[in-house]
Amino acid sequence: MSHVSKTNNVTIPELQRRAAAGEKLVMVTAYDAVTARIADAAGVDILLVGDSVGNVCLGFENTLPVTMAMMNHHLEAVARTRPHAFLVADLPYLSYDLGLEEAVRNAGGFIQRGAQGVKLEGGAKRVPVIQALVAAEIPVMGHLGLTPQALHRMGGYKIQGRAGKDAVELVEDALRLQDAGCFCVLMEGIPADLAARVTRELDVPTIGIGAGPGCSGQVLVFHDIVGLGQDQPPKFVRVYMNAFEQIRAALAEWGEDVRTGSFPAQQESYLLPKDAKESLDRWHPANPGAPALLEVLGA
Ligand code: KIV
Repeated sequence: MSHVSKTNNVTIPELQRRAAAGEKLVMVTAYDAVTARIADAAGVDILLVGDSVGNVCLGFENTLPVTMAMMNHHLEAVARTRPHAFLVADLPYLSYDLGLEEAVRNAGGFIQRGAQGVKLEGGAKRVPVIQALVAAEIPVMGHLGLTPQALHRMGGYKIQGRAGKDAVELVEDALRLQDAGCFCVLMEGIPADLAARVTRELDVPTIGIGAGPGCSGQVLVFHDIVGLGQDQPPKFVRVYMNAFEQIRAALAEWGEDVRTGSFPAQQESYLLPKDAKESLDRWHPANPGAPALLEVLGA
C-alpha cells in the first residue's frame, strides 16, 4: 500500500464555504495518473476515482464486478500524482454492505491510500454505515437517485424520483444522509426541479450528474467530456472534443510513417560518436585485430 498524505489542497471546509457562497463546484472522475494530472491541471475542485472505472476503463458492462482491489489500484495511481483537487474514492458494490467493521476497514484503506473522502450509494438504509464511517473520521459523500450499483432493482439506468412519493422520499433521504454526517450529497439521474429542491433543503453542498443546473456543483465522467466514452453518450453529457478520433488519427499517421520508413528520422535517433563510428566501420569478422563491436559500443 502506498501511503500518500497531502497538504495545501482543496478541503471540505473550503468546498462547503465556496458552495455556500454560491460558487459552483466542479468534479470529474479520474482513474489513473494521466487523467488525474490533466483534470488537476484544468483546475477541477474534486477528483472522483469512480467505480465507473469498471465500465469506462476495464471493459465491464457495469460497475458491479468492480472490487476493492481494483479500486485501491486505481486510487493509488491517482493519489501518487498528489492532486491539488479534493480526492474522493467510490466504495464498490458489496464493500460496505457486509458489516460495519468491513466497511470501516475498506473506507479507511482508501483514506490511508490518499483519498480525503469516500462515496457510497443509497438512502436512509445507509445511515448506520455512514455513521460508522464518520465516527472513524472518514468523510462521506452520499449518492442518491440513479445509483448504478442498484441497476437490477431499478430495472436499468432509469431516471429516478419522477413519481410524487419517490420525489418526497429522495428529499427525506438527502436530509437523513446530511444528518448522518455526509459532507456532500451527489444526485444522479433525477429531475432538475427535484435536485434544485434538495439543494435548497440541505446545508451541505450537492453535486449533480443528470440532475439539472440547480445543484451546488456538477460531475461528469472524464472520458465522456473528451469523447472517449460511449458512442451515444447519455442526454446529460456535453462532449467537448472528439479525443477518440484525434488519437486514432495520430496513431494511424504514426503507423503510416513507420510503414513508409519516415519514422524514426535522424532527430528521433541516437548516433555513434565519430571515433566509435570509425572503429565500427573498420571492424570486420575476418579482421581479428580490430576491436570487438561491444567494446566499441562501450558495453
Ligand atoms: O463512478 C462514477 O463515475 C460515479 C458518477 C456519479 C460520477 O459515481
